[in-house]
Amino acid sequence: MTTLILHSALRWLILIAGFWTVINAISGISQKRTFSANDNKSSLFFMIVCDLQLLLGLILVFTNGWFDKIKAGMGDVMKDPVNRFFIVEHGIMMILAWVLVHVGRSAVKKAAPEKKHKKMLLLFGIALFLILLSIPWTGRPNVGRPMMRWF
Ligand code: HEM
Repeated sequence: MTTLILHSALRWLILIAGFWTVINAISGISQKRTFSANDNKSSLFFMIVCDLQLLLGLILVFTNGWFDKIKAGMGDVMKDPVNRFFIVEHGIMMILAWVLVHVGRSAVKKAAPEKKHKKMLLLFGIALFLILLSIPWTGRPNVGRPMMRWF
């Protein structure tokens, strides 16, 4: 249960870090400024919270019965909208976002100074978009979960 509470709460830090990074990228492009320590800090924070969330997500898969459902057969998983969402859609999209955040960090590091903010916007922007799309927001049919979990 503690893992689920942490996984639910960490989404807010991820969204703060993601928007902070994307806003830095947009302001960097529009002001034509050089890549700063603040730009580095925001994307590093974004990567660290995504790493933690992946770890918590994997713990949930293995401790909350989801892996037993996978073992029982993907055919049945795909037939049930809740199982399909958490095991396939949520899991895969979030892992893809996590990969993009890691690719983004190294791509920005390697990019020429005038291209850093554009790379930042593209890669972290797509990652944030995938995260926003794949969160089980309250009110989503079948899969909606609380905005903040207390128990
Ligand atoms: C940026 C990444 C992620 C975000 C923002 C996120 C967010 C969330 C949220 C808000 C919930 C609902 C929690 C609740 O019921 O209160 C959830 C559930 C879940 N997430 Fe994630 N998640 C992310 C990544 C992952 C990854 C990478 C995995 C698997 C590898 C994963 C596996 C799960 C599972 C299995 C559940 C259902 C838990 C249960 O009810 O037992 N998540 N996630």
